[in-house]
Amino acid sequence: MRTRVRWLMTVNVAGMSGGPSSSQTPWWRNAVIYQVYPRSWADADGDGIGDLPGITARLDHLAALGVDAVWLSPFYTSPQHDAGYDVADFRDVDPIFGTLEDADALVARAHDLGLRIVVDIVPNHTSNAHVWFQAALASPPGSPERARYLFREGRGEHGDQPPNNWQSMFGGPAWTRIAESDGTPGQWYLHLFDTSQPDLDWTNPEVHDELDDVLRFWLDRGVDGFRIDVAHGLVKAEGLPDGPAEFDSANEPTALQPMFDQPGVHDVYRRWRRLVEEYGVPGEDRDRILCAEAWVLPLESLAKYVRPDELHQSFNFAFLMTPWLPDDLRASIDEGLAAVAEVGAPQTWVLSNHDVVRHATRLGYPQQPGHLRIEGIGADDPQPDTALGLRRARAATALMLALPGSAYLYQGEELGLPEATQLPDEARQDPTWERSGHTSRGRDGCRVPIPWEADLPSYGFGPSGASWLPQPEAYRELAADRQDGVDGSTLELYRALLRLRRERGLGRGTLTWTDGYGPDVLALEIASDVGPTLVLTNLGPEPVPVPDHLEVAVVSGPLTADGAVPTDTTAWLLSGT
Ligand code: NOJ
Repeated sequence: MRTRVRWLMTVNVAGMSGGPSSSQTPWWRNAVIYQVYPRSWADADGDGIGDLPGITARLDHLAALGVDAVWLSPFYTSPQHDAGYDVADFRDVDPIFGTLEDADALVARAHDLGLRIVVDIVPNHTSNAHVWFQAALASPPGSPERARYLFREGRGEHGDQPPNNWQSMFGGPAWTRIAESDGTPGQWYLHLFDTSQPDLDWTNPEVHDELDDVLRFWLDRGVDGFRIDVAHGLVKAEGLPDGPAEFDSANEPTALQPMFDQPGVHDVYRRWRRLVEEYGVPGEDRDRILCAEAWVLPLESLAKYVRPDELHQSFNFAFLMTPWLPDDLRASIDEGLAAVAEVGAPQTWVLSNHDVVRHATRLGYPQQPGHLRIEGIGADDPQPDTALGLRRARAATALMLALPGSAYLYQGEELGLPEATQLPDEARQDPTWERSGHTSRGRDGCRVPIPWEADLPSYGFGPSGASWLPQPEAYRELAADRQDGVDGSTLELYRALLRLRRERGLGRGTLTWTDGYGPDVLALEIASDVGPTLVLTNLGPEPVPVPDHLEVAVVSGPLTADGAVPTDTTAWLLSGT
């Protein structure tokens, strides 16, 4: 039977809140949440940096896309040494992004559109411009002001060696020595990231109380949850012991990292869970949620963060790092589902974010078994096969959006944006580039402003031609207006996937592998209360014929002339009517 292709349908905006839903399933267990990186999404005032009014003005795009919620990376007061992850005031908006009133307007507009808002909370560290750190610098060793951070004496006869051998995730030592108020060399403070990001001391009850209050501040303004930055880092091993010799903090297995995944972090999250639950409304699907950014392996350790009395979600970065190989993908999905099943939590799938090379580019390189974590790419590095990367990225997204659980999307992936791999080095702003002594190019390549309208200056990012990172010429043809309503465009593919995912109840379904398609094909049946959906992801060279009794509901790329699913393509199949 010849298959009927329905992947070219235009979206029904009103339909996004329709479709079957299960009143027993809290919204976050199968939500699709879209990450907006405020610097780069939409610029209302034309200064070349995105802002909150810009985001509000473009929220319709997300309603039409069909996501459930939006996660906003930090927009708080900050000197922007780490693009806002260096927070100077957790309770205010940085002037480059707008005002608190702009934040309120954004939340209100999102709620009007049926979109929930998740904001970032950065509890591991503050900016060195935060009043607490400024007070710590002005106060003597041993003072309560210093006790909010991790100040220690140096080692060696003159105290001129760092207190331990930890390194910053951005390169270089994780300790910086200060000058005391009399000008003499003094104590050292810990910063797991940039020197401008001193770590808070989570053994201090004052730190707990302060962050509780910050959570309440944003909950009272109506936000629907928090993504927790460096969620595995708050509590350090007692005594701040050295790591192993020749220690490279950023690249060790979690079990060897004395700064990560210590048992005490779980007490923090039990307390936070109780706090957010105060904001729930009995009988209404209004849970406020907590999602961990925790680079923790094995997955059994990560699953502890989503035990019933802790967080709601935790990104599955092991899936993000899985190469485009059938055995690796199958194992990654199985392990991901098994780990959270142990604790009764949904899995949280993700393929791209503001810290990693976009998956449309990652998958354009040769794939090898194991974990794939590509660092920032420069013009003199090997370049990806862009067409192959996009084809695989579309197939990977179609696979991910079929999986039970929730999923996060990163801005621009719905346009098929590749990483900007040829940025001039002088344009780079990620502190990684400087701190690594120009050995690691960092994350600017995935943070380039979004193209909205191909024929406007800055491709419609803002009203001027300004853009804080230069946009590649290739972004013009990928602009949203070039894809809107265009059959086969990546934007229309995402819309179709999200609509069908909702209609078929895939996020709340259960997965069973199906035999008979060969080792190069992932064949999975997702059964929900609506019925079964068969998902085929073909990673082999031979096209896979569609079984006679099924029809293609959505497919990530063109079928072959005789209706088979070709290589690097995912199809969702339904029983014919
Ligand atoms: C993780 C964030 O995603 C990243 O962008 C940031 O640099 C570090 N945490 C430090 O806050």
